[in-house]
Order: sequence, then structure tokens, then C-alpha cells
Amino acid sequence: MLNIVIFGAPGSGKGTQSAKLVEKYGLKHLSTGEILRDEIKAGTELGRLADTYMSRGELVPDELVIDILEGLIGKNGHIKGFVFDGFPRTLAQGEALGKMLQKHGEDVHAVVNLEVDEKELIDRLLKRGEISGRKDDNRETIESRLKVYHTQTAPLKEFYRARGILKKIEGVGSVDEIFRSIEKEIDTLVK
Ligand code: AP5
Repeated sequence: MLNIVIFGAPGSGKGTQSAKLVEKYGLKHLSTGEILRDEIKAGTELGRLADTYMSRGELVPDELVIDILEGLIGKNGHIKGFVFDGFPRTLAQGEALGKMLQKHGEDVHAVVNLEVDEKELIDRLLKRGEISGRKDDNRETIESRLKVYHTQTAPLKEFYRARGILKKIEGVGSVDEIFRSIEKEIDTLVK
């Protein structure tokens, strides 16, 4: 299997580049943000709970997201691999992902780290907020999401750098240009 974590701040292009990874390498996309938004739409108990955190730009508790991922990894036995988008987001989630994959004799093979400057991130998210009306794309919540990213999520870069699998990608430019840089890294793993 080929298991890729797509990593970066809110608005760095994780969802956009995940779609291209899925298309080229035939992987299964697992976005915890999308899964949680679906739960909110469906009005489930998990959705209602998640909404209280997401609308403030805070992280949903580790146990909840780890549980969701554990179920999904177990269910998708015969696939080429996963693109994990928006997971892991804390060191505890990083440790948990490693353990979940090891249970199936698997591992994370690459962590694609999309680097985008803060001004560009805010511009992209505000723009999307105007168009799609995603509830957390407003200035106050964006600021909180970015703060949470720096304090709770960014430490994972060192976690994966120490394992030799962190691939730094310049995340500004056209979507195709950025994907070409990602492909270069992933193709060396596939060969
Ligand atoms: P999540 O859904 O993961 O959101 P996010 O990390 O804030 O990321 P975004 O979806 O906003 O951005 P992205 O990096 O995917 O970029 P995208 O491609 O969309 O999480 C939402 C919330 O759920 C969290 O705040 C948290 O509360 C909760 N949650 C999720 N996972 C969790 C976890 N594991 N643990 C705990 N809580 C969790 O692009 C953004 C915009 O930019 C788009 O409009 C796009 O068209 C545009 N764009 C993309 N690429 C480019 C480019 N190259 N140039 C110009 N514009 C571009």
C-alpha cells in the first residue's frame, strides 16, 4: 500500500491536492474535516458535538477522531492506499495513526507538507467563505484555526521529519504546478 498524509495549515490546499493524488495513484481519500461536516449535516450526536468545536475553530477531541479513523481503516482492507487529509492534527493522533496502520502491517510512507504564507492562507479562506459559506471561513474563526495549527498541529512536522518522511512542498502557485512537485516526491516511492 501507499499511505500519504497531506499536511498543512488551514487553506494550504490539502483537499485540492488530495483529489489529484486520488486520481493519479488510485488512493482512498480520508478527510476528517469532511467526515465531521457530513455528521453535522446528518444531525448525528457526533455531528452536534463536533460542531461546538469546529464553529470555534478548535480541534475535535482526539478520542473521537481517532475512533472514526480506526473504523474506516479497518473497513478498507483491499485498496491501494490512503490519503489522510487533516489527520493527524496532534502528536497523539500521529502516534495513533502509526499504531492503527501497524496493526494491518502498514505504515505512513510520506507526509506532504504544503507550505503557504499566512497572508495567502487568510485570503484563500476568506474568499472561499464568501463563495461557499463554509461556517468556519470567517475572520475570527480563521484566526483561531491558524493559532491551533501553530500550537497543536505544526509540532507534527518534527515528528515526521525525525522519521525521514516529511516532504516539504512550496504550496503557492497554480494547483498543477504544486501537484508536479508532489508527484516528483511520490513517484520516487512508487518506483
Ligand atoms: P478541515 O476540513 O481539515 O479544514 P482545514 O484544515 O481548516 O483545511 P481547509 O479545508 O480549510 O483547507 P485545505 O488545506 O484542505 O485547503 P483547500 O484545498 O480546501 O477541518 C475543519 C475543522 O474540522 C477543524 O478546524 C477541526 O475543528 C475539525 N477537524 C478536522 N480534522 C480534525 C482532526 N484530525 N482532529 C481534530 N479536529 C479535526 O483549499 C482552500 C481554498 O484555497 C479553496 O477555496 C481552494 O480552492 C483554494 N486553493 C487551493 N489551492 C490553491 C492554490 N494553489 N492557489 C490558490 N487557491 C487555492
